[in-house]
This record gives sequence, C-alpha cells and structure tokens, in this order.
Amino acid sequence: MNDDAYIVEMRHITKRFPGVLANDDISVGIKRGEIFAFLGENGAGKSTLMSILFGMYESDEGEIFVRGQKVSLSSSNEAAALNIGMVHQHFKLVSNYTITENIILGIEPVKKSFGLFPAVDIKTASRKIKELSRSYGLEVDPAMRIDQVNVSTQQRVEILKMLYRDAEILIFDEPTAVLTPQEIEFLLGIMRGLRDKGKTIILITHKLEEIKQIADRCAILRRGKLVKVLNVADTSTQEMANLMVGRDVSFTRNKKPPRFRDRVLEVEGLTVRNEGHFEVVKDVSFSVRGGEIFAIAGVSGNGQIEIADAIAGLVKPSRGTIRLKGKDITSRSIRERIERGLSYIPEDRQKYGLILDFTLQDNLAIKRYYFPPFSGGGVLNDERFKDFADSLILRYDIRSGQAGKTSTRSMSGGNQQKAIVAREISLDSDLLIFVQPTRGLDIGAIENIQTQILEERDKGKAVLLISLELDEVMSLADTIGVIYNGRLLNIAPADTLSTKEVGAYMMGVKG
Ligand SMILES: Nc1ncnc2c1ncn2[C@@H]1O[C@H](COP(=O)(O)OP(=O)(O)O)[C@@H](O)[C@H]1O
Ligand SMILES: [Mg+2]
Repeated sequence: MNDDAYIVEMRHITKRFPGVLANDDISVGIKRGEIFAFLGENGAGKSTLMSILFGMYESDEGEIFVRGQKVSLSSSNEAAALNIGMVHQHFKLVSNYTITENIILGIEPVKKSFGLFPAVDIKTASRKIKELSRSYGLEVDPAMRIDQVNVSTQQRVEILKMLYRDAEILIFDEPTAVLTPQEIEFLLGIMRGLRDKGKTIILITHKLEEIKQIADRCAILRRGKLVKVLNVADTSTQEMANLMVGRDVSFTRNKKPPRFRDRVLEVEGLTVRNEGHFEVVKDVSFSVRGGEIFAIAGVSGNGQIEIADAIAGLVKPSRGTIRLKGKDITSRSIRERIERGLSYIPEDRQKYGLILDFTLQDNLAIKRYYFPPFSGGGVLNDERFKDFADSLILRYDIRSGQAGKTSTRSMSGGNQQKAIVAREISLDSDLLIFVQPTRGLDIGAIENIQTQILEERDKGKAVLLISLELDEVMSLADTIGVIYNGRLLNIAPADTLSTKEVGAYMMGVKG
C-alpha cells in the first residue's frame, strides 16, 4: 500500500437520533501518519462520527474502510482489533484501581503457575507500561490508584491504555477541555511524538489554536454536515472560525473606553483556609467599581476559586472583610447576598449552577420564584416563565431539543453553561462574578458571552472575572490582578500590561 492511501475512510455516513440528524451523509478520508482534526461547534456531530468509527454506535447509512478493507464495526472490541483506540471526553477509568490495573483491564497477561488458576502477570504488565511510558514521554507511577492522581495523569493513563493495546489510529475527543494551559502544551507535544513514531491521530476539538499548532488537515462539521476539509498550513484561524460557525466571526471585542463609577465590591485582607487548614488565599485586597471589569488572572489552583466562593458566601473566610455597595456582607447568607445584588457564575456548574432534573425554563427562572411577576398571591405564573425563558433562549442562543421544556440534564455542557450565564445576567445585579464563563465553549458562543459581559460593564455593572484564559483576560479586563500561590500580585490597569508580563506573573517568574 502506498503512503498516501487513506488508513481510514468513511463514506456517506448518516446517523439519526430521535429528532436529530447527528451526521448527515459525511464522507472523509484520513491519511496514515497525519494529525487530522475535526472542528465544529458543540453539537456539530464530531463525537458521534468518531464513536461510529470506534464501534460504539452503528451508522444508519454509509460504509467504513480501514486500511483499504471494508469493515463492520459493531463494538469497540472490533475497533480495537483493527488497532483503533479512543480517549473519550469523559474518561472511562475505574477510580479505585491502580494505574496498571486500569491499563491491563480486559487483556491481562496471564502467567502459568503451579496452581489450578492462572495468575495475572502484573510484573510483565508493569514492565511493558514502563517501556511505553518512557518511549512516549508519558510519565505515570503505575502503582498509584486513579483517585489519587490528577486529571492530566488520568489522561496519560488513557493514552497508555490505547498504546498497550497496540493502537495505531488514536482518536482524542476534546482532550484539552479539562487541562490547564501548561498541560495542554505538554499533551500537544505528546501527540506530535506519537505522530513522529508513525501513529495516526484524530483530534476532535473546537479550539482553533490547537489545530493551527499541531494538525496537518482539518475537517469542519456544522450541524451534522461536513462543510470542508482544509490543509491547515494553507488556512487561517479566521477562515476556520467562519466555516465552523457559518458566519463571519470577530475575534476582537468592540470595547468602549471605561466609565468607572462608585466602588461596588471591596475586599480587604481576605484570608481563606481550605479543609486542611492551609491558607489558600492570603491577605488579598482589591476593589471593583461600577463599569469596571476586574480580572483575576492565574494558573488553576492558586486560590482564585476560593476568592470567588468567599465573596459569594460558599466558603467562610478566616480573616478579612467583604463589602457590597458599602455594606459589610462578610457573614451574610448566600441568599441575602443575592438579594443585595450579587450574581455568581461558578466554576462547578453541575453542582452549584443548575438543577439537572428541572426543565430549562425552570432553571432560567429559579432565582426569581420569590418575586413578581413570576409569583403573586402564592401562585406561580407559567406563562410568564415561558415568555421569560424564550427571551433568554433567543438572546443567548441556547440550543436544546424542546426549548424551555427541555430537561436540563439532556442538554450539552456548553448550552447548560449559556443558560447559567443568561440567568445570572438577567438578575440585573450590581456585581457579577464570572468564573471561567467561556470554558469549553466554541468560538461563536464565546463571542456571544464576552459581548454580553462587556454590555453589562457598559451599563455600569461591576464585573469580577476569574479566568485561566489569558486571551480572555487581556481582551476583556479594565484592571488585572494576578494570583499566585494565594497572593494577589501587581494590580494594574490592563492597558499598562502586556500578555507576556501577565504570563510571567502567573508562572511566578515575576513578582
Ligand atoms: N446518545 C444520543 N442520543 C440522542 N441524541 C444524541 C446522542 N448523542 C448525541 N446526540 C445529539 O447529536 C448531535 C451531535 O452530538 P455530538 O456528536 O455529541 O456533537 P459534538 O461532539 O460535535 O459536540 C447533538 O444534537 C446531540 O444532542
Ligand atoms: Mg463531542
């Protein structure tokens, strides 16, 4: 077989789910030894298409060829036998098993021993894992249990698991969504290394920068259809973005000069201890004015979440005061803070943001139950709920199967997130705290949400933005403070700081 031949070819693949055409007559070929990306918005059909290649779903129509042979893939075992491996968006590891056990699960090497039962040969397995770790730069401690290691290590385990099964075609479904910027760099390096050793990589993502950095070719999907296959070197991120969203997307935000008003939030000497009594926020002071976006930049885990949680009332500070519009709220309840004008878009949206068993409509109105026009004389007004939900769904482009009546649990993560942002902004609070407001969203949705944040600022709201995305901080903030190891360093107007400088503070190189 010549080197240009497709190692995988999918022809005319169509897949329907109830009410959704997830893949609509898609034909695409992937060459041996390339990094091939699938780009598309949330819900475009990327995971479905690759799950078909991995034997998890059967397509309604279409054919698949692997190494020139027509195949029928009705289980992942059949895909694995063809040396196809996949790292899913949500890892499939057993948390109380060790790394070694997880890797060999299902294909344990067996040692013939004297007894009646064959024994699992952990030694041989460990040796093979060590060799793979070394040759691909995937460091793990094989004896650790999955619940003892971080997400990035768990991902390395998933990769080792594929390699242990001799995978030649490796599918990664949004692998960077859960990683910090440094971990992303590391993973992209690993992928390059895999390609250089002859593996074929399929990368699903909605991040244009990643594709620009490592992919050779890229297929763009939009609402179930294949829009185009591009050579990455010959295209721009702008062109990819436009094709992905289906309209001209703007990367730069139209930011008016700020008009600052009175101080809305004042934090003084805030200190927060974690459960182990370790100080994770150390004597932090800052204030946010109306009409100002104050961004806390920093690498994940440096105390920024705890600052937000303390202001919102989710954790109790051990020292310091928090004032909202001049009133001390340090020991007020969460509900009192909301009523005094605080909105919070937390990081853990599933846990604090939405009630998944409620409909979208009920979630959008959840914080308004107590107030007219939603309730009066103890009665909830269903029509008002519906109209209110419909207006937010339209304005924030929240996509769901059955509009306001959709069960929130069935919605994609990105659309759940848009729902929380919509609800919190609609409360018309004087202080808006956003933690990673655009995390995991595609470019069209990011544009929408960032524009809404700027609009709130222009209306005179105080915005506290906590983001790991340096680009987001630089394009939105009026004032930036960098958090490092629990301390807030170098608070300064955004236009006096360069991206490089902020990055250096984030790494602790400066300051
Ligand atoms: N198991 C499923 N049951 C019903 N609908 C599904 C299922 N999986 C995906 N879908 C729907 O199919 C469409 C494509 O989803 P998906 O392939 O997950 O998109 P992407 O990975 O590009 O975000 C979406 O509308 C999604 O809601
Ligand atoms: Mg997906």
